Amino acid sequence: MNSIPTAGTDDSDVTITVCPDGPLLVRGAARILDPDGNPIGHDRATVALCRCGRTSIAPFCDSSHKRKRRRP
Ligand code: FES
Repeated sequence: MNSIPTAGTDDSDVTITVCPDGPLLVRGAARILDPDGNPIGHDRATVALCRCGRTSIAPFCDSSHKRKRRRP
């Protein structure tokens, strides 16, 4: 029977918080990989991953999601 894994309690835990209309906040020792599987370095305990597609520092959020879209 398949089950949804539950989080452990040690320091290696990673949590991902979905911000409404914003990034995914990744806390913990997560490895972030590019589409080819190469690690993307970062030196923060918490990183914000863009999910709106407007960032200029992909895959990280640069707060561009806060800007209102212009009408075409
Ligand atoms: S979620 Fe922040 S720039 Fe995309």
